[in-house]
Order: sequence, then structure tokens, then C-alpha cells
Amino acid sequence: MKNITLLGATGSIGKSTLSVVDLHPDKFNIFALSANTDWKQMIKLCNKYQPSYAIMVDEQSAEKLSNAITTDIQVLSSVKALDKIVTHQDTDYIMAAIVGAIGMSSALCGAKAGKRIMLANKESLVLAGDIFMKTVKEFNAELIPVDSEHSAIFQCLKSGKSGLNKIQLTASGGPFLHTPISKFKSITPDEACAHPNWSMGRKISVDSATMMNKGLEVIEAHYLFSLTPKQIDVVIHPQSIIHSSVFYKDGSTLSQLGNPDMRTVIAYAMSYPKRMNSGVSELDLTSTASLEFYQPDFEKFTCLKLAFEALNKGGNAMITMNAANEIAVKYFLNHQISFLDIPRIIDQTLSTMKHTTLNSLEEVINNDLVAREIAHEIIKQHG
Ligand SMILES: NC(=O)c1ccc[n+]([C@@H]2O[C@H](COP(=O)([O-])OP(=O)(O)OC[C@H]3O[C@@H](n4cnc5c(N)ncnc54)[C@H](OP(=O)(O)O)[C@@H]3O)[C@@H](O)[C@H]2O)c1
Repeated sequence: MKNITLLGATGSIGKSTLSVVDLHPDKFNIFALSANTDWKQMIKLCNKYQPSYAIMVDEQSAEKLSNAITTDIQVLSSVKALDKIVTHQDTDYIMAAIVGAIGMSSALCGAKAGKRIMLANKESLVLAGDIFMKTVKEFNAELIPVDSEHSAIFQCLKSGKSGLNKIQLTASGGPFLHTPISKFKSITPDEACAHPNWSMGRKISVDSATMMNKGLEVIEAHYLFSLTPKQIDVVIHPQSIIHSSVFYKDGSTLSQLGNPDMRTVIAYAMSYPKRMNSGVSELDLTSTASLEFYQPDFEKFTCLKLAFEALNKGGNAMITMNAANEIAVKYFLNHQISFLDIPRIIDQTLSTMKHTTLNSLEEVINNDLVAREIAHEIIKQHG
């Protein structure tokens, strides 16, 4: 029996994780659950899973949850509580599925405690990739990607990296693949969140629509698989059936395929190195529409270009880019800026922030905070 600490339990990955847990009550137990403000959903989850701990990062939400719970579940609050529970001796596996840079600290603490980290929070690697990978190695932690593309590469690389030419991350192209750029200005948050293939949280849905999500994934792949930027390619594949591929010198290309459903990736991370039922139906290639592939349009999806540039630049560029993106997406989701403003704000934040190398986690965190302030200022000044 493995005890799971599920961070981001009320989100899209959180819900999919719980549905996989439901299929295997003999193998997995929910030890701790976390969320930020959605205490009403947490009541339901606590009643059903009876974890030892429930953490609401928001203090008022923690109080409301605590008042509503009748059993002896311990309700905690704050990011520090997350950092503590992931290191608890009874935590075996951590599902790191908090959205945004705020999820980095707990994922990193879990790595330091030598746990299995099932990493959905790609921001952890975008912010502190080198530090994170070193920590995993030093403390003998297990890092299993929970992103369909990275899980695909992870699986394909089981045949080794010898003779590897490149990897290719597939991208659906999001809801605006065929929308002319002249219409981008009037895109609404609901339109941006209506992803054609994947059902996800609102922030990552907007990232998919701008293709910043693919940019973050390129950076994630760079750290996870220790590849140079030139070894990472992106191809548009609107059907999201091929999840990614690796290309070898001998002409072989290995790909991982499946229906677009995160439960496959989550079940793989939970059962690795074995496999188990995820609840996802088997892929039927005869009833699958024809598979299409295109080159990405870097002029239309500027965010993808910005991410490649930040990776090539190194230093603090990726952290600054991620911070500015989080702020811009937040304003966009609140109807305060337009869809086209997102890459503009990121670009301006990157130009305003001094380019530098960062040598410690403290410097990373500080850079993240300063970049957020700059992005806020840019939005306030120019709207
Ligand atoms: N969804 C996917 O298919 C998918 C695929 C690959 C990777 N990912 C990655 O997985 C992560 C989660 O994505 P998602 O789509 O599941 O997001 P989501 O549906 O928006 O859920 C986010 C979760 O994080 C919690 N949270 C939000 N702000 C927080 C804060 N300040 N402190 C602590 N917890 C906070 C939320 O709690 P409340 O509900 O209380 O706000 C919720 O439980 C992201 O990093 C995303 O890039 C997602």
C-alpha cells in the first residue's frame, strides 16, 4: 500500500489522480490532500478519502474547512505546511499538481526527503531546473513526469539515450490553431479555455492557447532529460494521439500514443515501473481520424518563440518569463487585458529585467518576485 500526498487535489490533475486511486483501493491510500481556497470541494474529498491531513494554503479557507469537518483529520494552512507534510515519514508518493510557481517549494522539499515526485507542476523545473535535478540525484528521490509529452519521452527513452538525435514534443496547437492573428485581440477567457482535446485548469488552458504551455514544456524537457535546446523540437499535431517522439541516429523514431486523457500518465507515474488500469479506453487506430502534423507558427504564437529565446539565454530569463506569464494570464482571465497583451507583457518584462545568472534558490525566489512586480507595473502603466 502506497500513501499518496496529493497537492492540488481540487484541480484537474487532482481529480484525475483521485479517479485512478478509486480504481485501486488495494494499492493506494490518500494520506494528505491540499488545495488553496476551494474548501467546499475539500469537505467532500475529506469525507470520502479520510486523509490524515488536509491543507488549505489560504488561512480563512482552512478555518472554514476545519469548522466543517467532524472527524479527526488535521487541517493545516500555509505553504510551510505543504513543505512539512511532503517530508512526513508516512508520505510515499507526492503528486505535485499545484498550479504555478507557488508549487515549487513543496515539490522540492519532497525531493529533498527522497520521495517519489509525480511532477505535474512544470513550473518547478522552469524556475529551478538545475537545483531540482541535483536535489533529486543527491537525495535519491524518484522523479516521474506527469505531463503527457514528458511521460511519452520518459517511456520512449527506456531504450536509452545512445545515438539520440533529438526529441519532438507534440502540441495540439490549442483552440486558435486556425484562427487568424487579426482575430486574436477579441479572444475571451472562455474561448481561450475551451481546449479542443484536453480538459484542464484555466491557467494551463490559456497557456495552451498562447502556446506558452509548449514553451514551458520545452524548458521542462531540457532539464528532465538533460538535452540541449537544439535537441528539442516542437511539432503541431492537432489530434493529440501521438504524445511525443524520440529520434535516433539509425533512422528509428519511437513515439508513445494514446487517447488524450491524463489518467494514463498519472497511472503510469503511480505504478512505475509496472503498469495498471487507468480507466482510459484503449486507442482504436481504425476509428481515429487521420493524423496531421505542421510546423509551429512562431510569429503567430510569440510565446513559444519567447520561451525558446529564454532557454537559449539561460540565467534568470526563464524565471522572469514564467513570472510575467503568470501575472499576464491572471489579468487576462479577469478580463483586464487582451489575449494579445500576454506576449507583449512577457516581452516587456524580459526587456526591463536585468539579465543575470542565479546561484541559489533564494535568488530564484527573489527574481520571481521582482519580475512579478515589473509585470504588474507594465500592466498598470499601459493597460
Ligand atoms: N490539467 C492538465 O491536463 C495538466 C497536464 C500537464 C501538466 N499540468 C500541470 O499541472 C499543474 C496543475 O494543473 P491543473 O490543470 O490541475 O490546475 P487547476 O485545475 O487550476 O488546479 C490547481 C490546483 O492548485 C491549487 N492551487 C491554486 N493556487 C494555489 C496556491 N496559491 N497555493 C496552493 N494551491 C493552489 C488549486 O486549489 P483551489 O482549487 O483551492 O484553488 C487546485 O487544487 C499545473 O502546473 C499544470 O501546468 C496540468
